[in-house]
Amino acid sequence: MEDQEFQNKIKRLAYSSIFFGSSLIFIGLLILLIHFNVISFSSNHYNINNSYVINLDFQEPYQEYFDVSLLDDSKKNKEIKFGYQLFKNTPNYIGPNNDNLERAYAGNNLSCNNCHLYAGTKKYAGSLIGIIQRFPQFRGRENKIGTIEERINGCMERSMNGRVMPKDSKEMKAIISYMKWLGRDAPEDGKFEGTGFLTIKIPKRPVDLTKGKSVFSNMCSVCHGENGGGEKLPNSNVYKYPPLWGDDSFNNGAGMNRVITAANFIKGNMPFGTTYDSPVLTDEEAYDVAGYINQQHRPTKPNLELDFPDLKRKPVSTPYPPYVDDFSIKQHQLGPFQPIMEFYKEKYNMIKTK
Ligand code: HEC
Ligand code: HEC
Repeated sequence: MEDQEFQNKIKRLAYSSIFFGSSLIFIGLLILLIHFNVISFSSNHYNINNSYVINLDFQEPYQEYFDVSLLDDSKKNKEIKFGYQLFKNTPNYIGPNNDNLERAYAGNNLSCNNCHLYAGTKKYAGSLIGIIQRFPQFRGRENKIGTIEERINGCMERSMNGRVMPKDSKEMKAIISYMKWLGRDAPEDGKFEGTGFLTIKIPKRPVDLTKGKSVFSNMCSVCHGENGGGEKLPNSNVYKYPPLWGDDSFNNGAGMNRVITAANFIKGNMPFGTTYDSPVLTDEEAYDVAGYINQQHRPTKPNLELDFPDLKRKPVSTPYPPYVDDFSIKQHQLGPFQPIMEFYKEKYNMIKTK
């Protein structure tokens, strides 16, 4: 009898240890699977958690977290949606051929989205998530603290070859509402991995224009056209493939017209579909093709000599004078850049990256 009870006890003990043991294994496995992202409890891939780690590894354009069409039609949301439309299909609203010429702030038919990819959400494609938090900030081009409106107008006057969009216009307000919404969970300083562009290792030689041309013909012209003029969507002012040079492109004062900036953009984003973690071009190819593109004809911005009141602050690959060094314009356009960078390091103790 006692024996029987003892045996039952042993049995119960064995069963419960098997039960607890396997539960532990099960829980362990679950934790591992979650840890390695095999399973996920969130309904979308943008895990913006309380520690503000923004995970944009899955960066298809219309993930739920950035899908404006999921917003209801409150007054605020309507403004956000208008800002998104302006950003995506810019020429329809403020381009040179839109219905209301008073609103033709842009001088070309590019869209903001052509350079700030996936409506400003793609990593290392000039992401605008957190941009509101990153402003106001010091700007060398004007040598003063600049506001977000002034920064947007920087792109209006240069990338969009246009004119200043008034601070209180409904367009400016809508773009800013959209940007605020993009950064609704961004950290207080607006900084996280994936802002700006990748940085290439700058080759220690001038751009090779012959190689640049062949990269362009082999890897870029299928979309951007043999003459770099791009291609519009049918019956639309909006580009399917934006121009890389010519009258409808960014002007010579634009950031994209600096070889280093363009090479950095291209490295992480082109040919279209390229992502920062699996670039297609080598640093050498990105450098050469950027140099080739920037040597072609494009609109010129007036008054460029007024940029960078403190000329020391001019990026080394700024393609237009004046400079406070004795390097030629050609070297500022095509490199080699290391000697120029060394000059600023020695004379002014300034580290130049672009
Ligand atoms: C031809 C490409 C191009 C187009 C089109 C363009 N931008 Fe930009 N934008 C850039 C580049 C390049 C930079 C970064 C410049 C630099 O590194 O100095 C930038 C920077 C910015 C920044 C600051 C980003 C930061 O992280 O500090 C804002 C804001 C901005 N652009 C807004 C806009 C808006 C709004 C539009 C449309 C009206 C627009 N851009 C159109 C190329 C472009
Ligand atoms: C498969 C088509 C495709 C190929 C190939 C391609 N691009 Fe693009 N490119 C695009 C599209 C589309 C955009 C605009 C992105 C958007 O609006 O979503 C763009 C934008 C750009 C921009 C910024 C906008 C502008 O007009 O200046 C540059 C610069 C650029 N591409 C350079 C290149 C270079 C250099 C190559 C070759 C190494 C290349 N692209 C290959 C489709 C392509």
